[in-house]
Amino acid sequence: MLSEKEKLNRLMMLGIELNQVHDLDILMEQILTEARVFVNADAGSIYIRDGNFLDFTYTQNDTLQKRLGKGEKLIYSTFRMPIDEKSIAGYVAATGRPLNIANAYEIDAAQPYRFSKNFDETSDYTTRSILTIALKATNNKILGILQIINAREEETKQVTSFTDNDEKTMTHFASIASVALERAQMTRAILLRMIRMAEMRDPNETGAHVNRVGGFAVEIYEKWAHLHNLPQKEIDRNRDILRMAAMLHDVGKVAISDLILKKPGKFNDDEYESMKLHTILGAQLFVDRQSDFDDAAAQVALDHHERWDGTGYPGYVDISTGIPDPGFELPNGKARGKKGEEIHIFGRIVALADVFDALSSKRVYKDAWEEHDVLTEIRKNSGLQFDPELVDIFFSSLDIIRAIQHRYQSN
Ligand code: C2E
Ligand code: SIN
Ligand code: SIN
Ligand code: FE
Ligand code: FE
Repeated sequence: MLSEKEKLNRLMMLGIELNQVHDLDILMEQILTEARVFVNADAGSIYIRDGNFLDFTYTQNDTLQKRLGKGEKLIYSTFRMPIDEKSIAGYVAATGRPLNIANAYEIDAAQPYRFSKNFDETSDYTTRSILTIALKATNNKILGILQIINAREEETKQVTSFTDNDEKTMTHFASIASVALERAQMTRAILLRMIRMAEMRDPNETGAHVNRVGGFAVEIYEKWAHLHNLPQKEIDRNRDILRMAAMLHDVGKVAISDLILKKPGKFNDDEYESMKLHTILGAQLFVDRQSDFDDAAAQVALDHHERWDGTGYPGYVDISTGIPDPGFELPNGKARGKKGEEIHIFGRIVALADVFDALSSKRVYKDAWEEHDVLTEIRKNSGLQFDPELVDIFFSSLDIIRAIQHRYQSN
């Protein structure tokens, strides 16, 4: 068992780490791990609220984990349950009150909630003690629940009940988890508002276009990441980050004049130069680089018009001034473009996704192209404008790409 001093130390360390970790998944896993160490619990889960349901989102189980081989991970079919008083988790979410149950199989029949044996039956596990605590936002709205299962005696490892003291400790962990969740959800809401604002500014960047580019990008990324043997955990985490970042690729256009943005015809050179600034203007919005998401969004905004052959824009410039980096000036005063793998993988992916969608769509300055012509253009530019490996992946995913086009059609 941890001594009181050790506990205090760990709590302080956790507080510090939580302030540094901005990735919600990592944070939640860490909270679960630490919470279980404190009360010596065999298993635990965090459920996140989605409307009137709870989604089983994060879970850990030492006993089940031990039965697996090295490197294997627990697979749970992600399930959801309604927020009502019939289940333990639902009851806690519906009432906001904690439940400390000594034996899941001996719940007083007078209570409205029942333990669902499904989980135990499908996983050959025996749940006994369950401590469940609501995760509440500052306005008291329910964000989810924290549930830990099967407290164990220190010496014998026998399953026992959770004490009142355990309940107090868990309340502390629940409040840390709540703060992190609320912060993540606020960030998400702000991003969605930014995307909507960018859509309103540019008639081309409609919800449909932005969703298609996000969808194509994630599809291409997953195939690419598997080919490069990236760990599944990293792929899962990057998927959401890239989708959002790709949706914001042109957010810098909010700072471009309407006269240019909505010009019904072809640009002259000056107009085109002004428009090119949307890359660094977009990147400037994320300079704080507070999280993996900020990094990705900055990289995508900055790099999505670079070309594989090095002739794209903006190239090697100082993001705050647009001035070429020392040593990267070309004779014409412009910066040398990034080329090949100097371009961030997310930038290379979004470049392809964006152009495919731009060519396939009607714009104020051009008509939509036939699919056959679009595909010919993409193939022709493999190794010139686009990363050839990504072009191959794109063509091998055409069915899915078409399905995404179909799902998000322009009005
Ligand atoms: P966008 O319309 O979303 O286009 C994104 C990219 O798709 C373009 O980047 C370009 O690489 C490709 N693309 C679009 N249409 C064509 C085309 O007809 N042929 C070819 N080969 N490629 C095409 P780019 O050129 O850097 O333009 C960036 C943004 O600037 C465009 O985003 C659009 O909003 C605006 N833009 C570019 N040219 C014009 C123009 O002549 N008139 C107007 N009004 N806007 C333009
Ligand atoms: C519940 O909280 O009701 C679900 C617990 C479980 O089935 O494991
Ligand atoms: C739209 O999506 O409705 C406009 C065309 C486009 O940007 O793809
Ligand atoms: Fe752009
Ligand atoms: Fe675009």
